[in-house]
This record gives sequence, structure tokens and C-alpha cells, in this order.
Amino acid sequence: MTQDTYRRTAAGQHPANLSPEYKSTPSRAPRQAPIVLPQSLSEITGPLLLGERLDALENDLTKQRSGEPLGERIVVHGRVLDEDGKPIPQAMVEIWQCNAAGRYRHVADQHPAPLDPNFTGVGRCITDEEGRFRFITIQPGAYPWGNHPNAWRPAHIHFSVFGRAFTQRLVTQMYFPGDPLFAYDPIFNSVPDPAARELLVCRFDLEQTQPDWALAYAFDIVLRETPFA
Ligand SMILES: [Fe+2]
Repeated sequence: MTQDTYRRTAAGQHPANLSPEYKSTPSRAPRQAPIVLPQSLSEITGPLLLGERLDALENDLTKQRSGEPLGERIVVHGRVLDEDGKPIPQAMVEIWQCNAAGRYRHVADQHPAPLDPNFTGVGRCITDEEGRFRFITIQPGAYPWGNHPNAWRPAHIHFSVFGRAFTQRLVTQMYFPGDPLFAYDPIFNSVPDPAARELLVCRFDLEQTQPDWALAYAFDIVLRETPFA
């Protein structure tokens, strides 16, 4: 295999590395063709991301502090599957997000919205034998981000999925149905194919809603092998 045979994505389903409307990509996007790096045994067998390393409540972002965070409590659940629909167990699913007011607990976010002392915005869990994951969290707010005048991100939750080693990783974002900011967001619209864009939007799931307690959303993640021609 040579680097000439490397093909990053199916056409239109993933954003280009260089998406000029998303202003930080011109300085980040590679200017040369990618090189395939052979993996060694240590990368495959390296530290395993086993479930026993997680604390029991790491998937519940409403119980990480002494009090409950402010905002609308939601359940976010789904499955990690391969492209044949087979569940992927033992995958580490991590999320991070802003709070209900649209602010991240991060030094880089200093915009004038309140922090919540009871909300870190970070959670983790390991998929079970059916590839399932489940988080309890707070509906994130929209936030301004300075990409262009009056730029606001649609509400979203960041996702990272690790396989059994650090070399197996997917990073993506999950959005909520019907957000009026979709049409104005260069990150959401950096995915060229509208049908692929819709796959980033979770589904309202009435069945998993907890009466008198929380709404629920479903978001399945389908992993495809990096395609090689
Ligand atoms: Fe974000």
C-alpha cells in the first residue's frame, strides 16, 4: 500500500480538512498528502481502556459534585456499531459539553455567561455487550464563538469513541433536532452531504424519557473502517 492509495472518506460524508468558512481550519489543515504510518504491536496492545478503570458514576454528569447542576436534565443513549450493524463492546465513549448557559469550564471560554459549580461537562462510559452507552447530563446551551460576526454554535455534545487502543479513535459532535442555528454554523455545514449532516442530529426518544425527571435522546454511532482504495 502506498500513500497514493490512501482515501480519507467516502465523498461528501466527512468535512474536508480545509473548510474556509470554519476560520481555524486554514491554519490547521495539512498542506501535504497524508502518509500511512505502519502500526507496531505496542500501539495495538498498548494500554487497554477497560471498564474497571472508570468510576461508577462517570456517565452521570448530574452527580459529579455536591449539588445538582442547573438546566434541563436529559438522558443521552445509543449504541456503537460497525457498518454491518454488529455491536462494538468495550469501546470507551467520552463526552464533553458546555453547561445550560452555554459556557465551558475551560480557561479558553471567558464569555459572559455563568459557570455552574455543579457541572464539569465531562463524562465517560464503556459500551456493554450490545454496544450500548448511556449518559445523564444537562441540555447544553448555544454559545458565541467569534468565527464571524454574531457567530453562535448550535447546541451540541462532543463525542470521542476509543476502540481497544489509543490508535482507534473517532471524534464527532452530536446535535439536537430542529436547531434554528444549523443553517448558520460552518462546522455543521462543513459536512458536504445534507443526508450525512442529518446523521449528526440525535433523535428525540419518548420511550426512554423518564416521567417527571428527564427527557431522552438517542444517538447511534456507526464506525466504518478507514477506507483504502
Ligand atoms: Fe463545543
